[in-house]
Order: sequence, then C-alpha cells, then structure tokens
Amino acid sequence: MCGIVAYLGNKPAKHLLLEGLKRLEYRGYDSAGIAIMNGKLNVARAVGRVAMLEEKLEGLEGFDGSLGLCHTRWATHGSVTEHNAHPHRDDKHGIALVHNGIIENYAALKTYLQDKGHTFTSQTDTEVLAMLIGELYEGDLEKAVQAALREVTGAYAICVVCEKEPGVLVVARKGSPLMVGIGSNNDYVVASDGAAIISHTSRVFMLDDYNVVKLTREGFRTTDVNNVAVNPKVQQLEIDLEQIELGGYPHFMLKEIFEQPKALRACMSGRMDLREGRVVLGGLSTFGKEITRAKRVILTAQGTALHAAMIGRYLLEDLAKLPSQTEYASEFRYRNPTIEEGTVVVAVSQSGETADTLAALHEAKERGALALGVINVVGSTISRDTDAGVYLRVGPEIGVASTKAFTGQVAVLTLISLFMARRRIMGAGDCGDLLREMERIPEKIERILEQAPIIKKVTEKYVDRENWLFLGRGYNYPTALEGALKLKEISYIHAEGMPAAEMKHGPIALINEGMPAVFIANRGRQYEKVMSNIQEVRSRGGHVIAVATEGDEQIKKHVQDVLYIPDVPEPLSPLLTVIPLQLMAYYAAVARGHDVDKPRNLAKSVTVE
Ligand code: F6R
Repeated sequence: MCGIVAYLGNKPAKHLLLEGLKRLEYRGYDSAGIAIMNGKLNVARAVGRVAMLEEKLEGLEGFDGSLGLCHTRWATHGSVTEHNAHPHRDDKHGIALVHNGIIENYAALKTYLQDKGHTFTSQTDTEVLAMLIGELYEGDLEKAVQAALREVTGAYAICVVCEKEPGVLVVARKGSPLMVGIGSNNDYVVASDGAAIISHTSRVFMLDDYNVVKLTREGFRTTDVNNVAVNPKVQQLEIDLEQIELGGYPHFMLKEIFEQPKALRACMSGRMDLREGRVVLGGLSTFGKEITRAKRVILTAQGTALHAAMIGRYLLEDLAKLPSQTEYASEFRYRNPTIEEGTVVVAVSQSGETADTLAALHEAKERGALALGVINVVGSTISRDTDAGVYLRVGPEIGVASTKAFTGQVAVLTLISLFMARRRIMGAGDCGDLLREMERIPEKIERILEQAPIIKKVTEKYVDRENWLFLGRGYNYPTALEGALKLKEISYIHAEGMPAAEMKHGPIALINEGMPAVFIANRGRQYEKVMSNIQEVRSRGGHVIAVATEGDEQIKKHVQDVLYIPDVPEPLSPLLTVIPLQLMAYYAAVARGHDVDKPRNLAKSVTVE
C-alpha cells in the first residue's frame, strides 16, 4: 500500500527510480511523484499511473541528478489530486519526503505547525511530517528526522532529502516495510520491497521499527530515533527477475494462476517424507513440543488469506482433532480475546505486512500465545515477529488479486495440520496416503488449467449478470467465499459466497430468473446435500454452474454448466476447486474490459488498519 523508491549514487536517478516505481505499482496506483536533486530539488507529480508521471517528465528539464526519491500512492488522507500526491515538501529548507503509512497524530501536529506559521497545501498526514522535519531542522537532516519521528505516532516508511545537504538521503521505518539495497559502487536503492531493488543488487538489509539510516556516497550509518547506533543484518535477496516479469502473459494474475503447479511443487519440496509418512517442517522444529501439546489454534488473517485460514481450521479439526477457530485479524485485535494456556496463534499472510494481521499477532503474543506465521514474503515484518513459521515458497505474487498465495497457504496449512495430526493421533499409513495424494495435486491442477478455454466460454455466457452466488459446504464453503471475493475484486460484479445450506435461511429470496449460482459440488461427504441445494436454486430460475468431480455425468442433468476437477480426497479438494473460480474471475474481468492487475480502489499489501 503505497510504494516508495529512493536512489543515491553515481548513475542518473530518474530512469532507475521510474523502473523501480513501476515494479511497485501493485502497491498503489492513484497518483505518483518524483523528486530529484540537481543543484536544487526538482519535483513532479501526476494523478494516475506511473506512466502519467513518465509522460509529464518528458517535457520537463532538471531531472538529471543521481539522488532522488519517488512514490506511487494509494490514498488514505486526502483525495486523489496532484496536491495530495507525494513527494511532500516543507516550506523553509527544501526538504522533500515520500511516505508509506499513516501518521495518526497528524491533526494535533498540524495545529501546532500552523500556529508556528506554516501553510499547508495538501490534506495529507505526510505533508505534516515534512513540515515537522523542516521545523526541527538545524542544519542536520538526520537529526531533524530523528527528532520528528520522536514526536509522531502511527506507521511510516519514509525517504527524505534536503536541498541544503545535496549528498544525503535519510530513510526510516516503523510499521511499514522498507529495505536498503547496497550497490557495488557506494550506491544505494531503498524501496518498499525487493522487486524494485533486485535488478541493481541482491545485497540488502531490512530496516527494523524505529531504525533511521543516513546514506551518503561515502557510506551509511544506522541508528534508532534516539541516535543510538544499530547494526543492520545484511542478507541476500532471494528473488529472480523472471519471477517479477510478465513472461509473455497479458497479466500477472493469469501468470500466477498458471504458475500454481510449479509454485506448489516448490512449496511441498523437501517437506514430505513419504516413506515415514510424516511432514518435515524445519521452521517449526524449535517449538515441536509446544505445538504438539497445543490445546487450541486460532488462525487469523484478512481477505483471501482468511479464506485459506478457514480451510486450515477444517483441516486441523478434521485431521488433527484440534479445537480451532478463525478470526478476522481486525476484529480479534480489539475484541479483548481470551487466550488460554496452550493456545497457538497462526498468522496467515502473503505479504507478511498486513497491518491488521500484524496487530492481531502482537495482541496474541502479549497475551501469551505461541505465534506461528504462514507467510510468503521472506523477512517480512510478520515473519520476523512470529516465534516460528513456515514460508509458502510460491515466489513473488504481483497480481493484486491473490491466487498462487492462496493455494500455497492452503498447502502449508495442510502440511501443518498433518504435522500436528501425526504427532497426536494419525498413523504413518494414513499420513503417507494423504501426502502421496498431495504430491499429485500440481499435476491435477495442470489438468484443470488445460480446460481454461472451456472455463472462459462458460464465464462469457454469464458475464453481463450483475449478481452471482457462490455456494459450497464443508471444506469448500471457504472456497465459495474465495470465488465470490475474486469475482468482486477484479470484475466489480456483486457476488456473495456462503454455505450452501445457509441460502434457504434468507438469501434464497435473491434468486431470480437467470441468476448465476456457482456450486462447488465435488464428490465428498456432503455431495447429496449440495445436490438438494442445487435443486432449490434451479426451481427458482437460477442458472447453476457446478464445479464437479470428473466422471460425475449425472450432475449434467441438474445444472446448466459443469466444470470438472480430477478426483481428490476431500481435505485436499479446495486446492483444486478454487482453480476454475480463479479463472472465471479472471475471464469475467477481461471480458468487462478491466485492468485485472490493478483493480479500482485496491492495493496489494494493506499496511494501514
Ligand atoms: C484478495 C487479496 C486480499 C489479501 C488480504 C491479506 O485477492 O489479495 O484479500 O488476501 O489483503 O493480504 P496478505 O495475505 O498479504 O496478508
């Protein structure tokens, strides 16, 4: 949510910054801006995508320096206008700043600064921080930033430059991600994530909360906001460029849907001991005993990750016989939750930066829970703040609509459930059987992906309908929620997901002639019940699209369209049933002419509460 990039070195900054910014555009894309030091600070801002800023810069002189910073915005405070776009400046010293996060006490600070005679030109919290740094500036940018940050509450990742110190870049973080890439020539690229850094260097360090880094062409130093020295840990960035490029696909979402077989193979690799019928999760080994003795598991997340967590709950209860619950992180945090001894909290998150999930995790830890993470982004805040965890290993997810991270999360939660089940109640034979089935999941997904043209055709039949239902039971109730969310977020079609049985308790009133209802009707314990629910929709004029198991020819008599998945044990079925739903959402959005990778009002990695 908001992407920032800064560069200090010997190369021209402009091109490098814009390239980096394009790679971070998935974090926000309502406006963009850049500041480059060239004797003085030159600033340009534009409403819209980074391409609009690029176009604007073509007609402008003075953007040739080798120190600069830029920003792509997802609006929080203040509407989408050029005035509210970053960088923001102070009114005294030629300070410019880009920011990701929210300054919570900005209103009080603004009044204080207005009383001191400062005039504001935007409605943003960020401009308040720029002015505050200016107000406290006494010839040393690093000191002024530290002093200002001692006064603010909220979340920030910031990059700051000042005309009076043309070779200095100061960056800092609390709550929002920021990393520094160290080039080979005393040059540095600072960014919200590694995608904007990797083409320059793979040597990076992540900032911790309250870290302030002063960078010059002679080197860098890291302190906290009280100027106490800090030693950052330099590490290798494990991203390869191919993973963050389209590679011939029209959209990242489609690429990531098709990447799922490969991603899941990587996710499972080395974690399944088929001979011994057990799961090997190095990330959990330190806490093996506590995890085995757990009395309750609380899975917490938001959005798609919450749907994966809900499947995790079914898995833990069904396979490991472990009392489990799922919680919206945003609700859990403020509910004064009871955490008994023996509670394990699992935070599920692709980005590892979601503010709600992070806050829930901190709350649970404070109340004594053992905190585990199921995270994709290595080194992200949640992954660092948990006691232990398991990475998804599905590679960077760029499409704003989450796809391969969802199946990765479900796969990891399945492994964790089997890990616990095996240590509690499950024998090697049963565990081995399920692991062998899991091993075949990627190949089964490939078979579903081969049917993409059929799924496209079915979707196009219904694409002009404005209201859809997604219905499922048991393991596939969360999949129904996920199908509805995917359709909503990229095609802007109203869709509701719910347990198939719930429909007759009210929502059935919505059904009218021709309304599409997607039923997840694969073979399983509740198949017959789902078939009854299908009849209830059909008899009221609804058009049923069923996701069914290969070989189920009978179902064709009862529904308008069928999309087949290979046969699979029920606990593993969401890994397959979700694939046609992802493709339906994708094809619906394309048919409606939407920008699939940049849906309106959304941004990936929601770092504000
Ligand atoms: C939907 C989607 C979001 C995220 C949610 C949590 O496609 O991507 O609902 O799942 O914002 O994000 P993470 O997993 O990064 O915590």
